[in-house]
Amino acid sequence: MVQSTGPKKMKCAVFISGTGSNLKSLIKFSKKKNSPISIELIISDNSKAKGLKFGKIFNISSKVFNYKDNIITEKKIISEIKNKKIKIICLAGFMKILSKYFIKSFKGKILNIHPSLLPKYKGLDTHQRAISNSEKYSGCTVHFVNSKLDSGKIILQKKVKISKSDTVKSLTKKVLVQEHKLYPKAIDKVLSL
Ligand code: GRF
Repeated sequence: MVQSTGPKKMKCAVFISGTGSNLKSLIKFSKKKNSPISIELIISDNSKAKGLKFGKIFNISSKVFNYKDNIITEKKIISEIKNKKIKIICLAGFMKILSKYFIKSFKGKILNIHPSLLPKYKGLDTHQRAISNSEKYSGCTVHFVNSKLDSGKIILQKKVKISKSDTVKSLTKKVLVQEHKLYPKAIDKVLSL
């Protein structure tokens, strides 16, 4: 478990690869007086990630790593994280798989949000697969990251009803609305003693 250190906010890094709508909701959450986190660093593997704009808007330091060599890149990321005294890492649409070494280095301190009701639909294309299987519900999950894909301990989940008329696009939108509420709640849960 990650322990909060009293009234001082815990330093957090958010890892993204794309739109960054979860990043935006986490930044808003972090600005609240009673929020347990302050976001000090944004990391992306993609220089074109739209979410990088939130670093500029909110004046948060952002770093892009090109991942030509995974081991070297992770070493650079680890040193960046240690320099900034980051204590919690939130993956938010980050498309690279972190190595076992990386995960071990920050054991119990890495969270991820996934757009399905885990353990169902690990991996990609969750909404498409849920619709194709005529599922009645989809949803989202915030979980701790371990070395197996989308398999760490679940912190919180939120169910979302799939209606007959739902498409991947409409379901993605509905689930994202819930993701933006769930991630902050999960952080509160993990960091409250
Ligand atoms: C979200 O659906 C998240 O659950 C998944 O990737 C998507 C990222 O969306 N891991 P965004 O970049 O936060 O808008």
